[in-house]
Amino acid sequence: MKDLTPKTDIGLSCTMDENGCCIVPDQQNQLDWAYWDNQWAAGQTGWDIGYVAPALKDWFDSIEDKSLSVLIPGCGNAHEAEYLLSIGFTNITVIDIAPVAVRILKEKFSNQPNIQVIQGDFFEHEGAYDVIVEQTFFCAIDPLLRASYCEKMQKLLKPNGVLGGLLFDRKFEQGPPFGGCKCEYTPIFHKNGLEVLEMDITGGSIPERQGSELFFKAKSKN
Ligand SMILES: C[S@@+](CC[C@H](N)C(=O)[O-])C[C@H]1O[C@@H](n2cnc3c(N)ncnc32)[C@H](O)[C@@H]1O
Repeated sequence: MKDLTPKTDIGLSCTMDENGCCIVPDQQNQLDWAYWDNQWAAGQTGWDIGYVAPALKDWFDSIEDKSLSVLIPGCGNAHEAEYLLSIGFTNITVIDIAPVAVRILKEKFSNQPNIQVIQGDFFEHEGAYDVIVEQTFFCAIDPLLRASYCEKMQKLLKPNGVLGGLLFDRKFEQGPPFGGCKCEYTPIFHKNGLEVLEMDITGGSIPERQGSELFFKAKSKN
């Protein structure tokens, strides 16, 4: 009989739970590159909305200087980068930890000199950016790493740089995604080097996420 068990990029078998999520073997059961690569290899990318979220589009449209350096961590299919390129941005970096995702990106952007595609761990990445875009990356990491996320963002932001994007304003039974609320996020940001400039429920969500997302902007406290 034909074996229909999805095979991952790194040769692991992957079984599905009742929600269609890829269950990885116990020793792999942490949110590392192998976990994410399994999700990608099994086509379990339910987080991908397929286009740039309206709130992000509005924000990008409002930025006049298209030469600003932009980083999109945990970028997945990087629809935000496609949109930024389409409106003239010239200095975009996208990073994802999953080799399968990065292969797709490298092909998609093969003729684009204005975008750099990096396979790697956000927490190890070095650089200095004017704009950093958050789109379902914060909710994908272990909540224990939220302080490190903020500290790393502070290091990656230029003095006048802005981190902005969408955060869930709801809980999930089991993550990822890991949700939360403004009252939970604001103190973590403030304690770990970021000043929150705004963080409010947005009307710029996709219909499926309407009323359950916060649009925020933050800058380094330094
Ligand atoms: C929930 S998905 C979101 C993807 C994309 N931002 C979107 O909204 O479609 C999270 C992504 O982050 C990547 N990822 C997880 N941990 C990472 C890390 N430490 N560094 C870089 N990428 C990471 C995963 O491979 C995955 O593609």
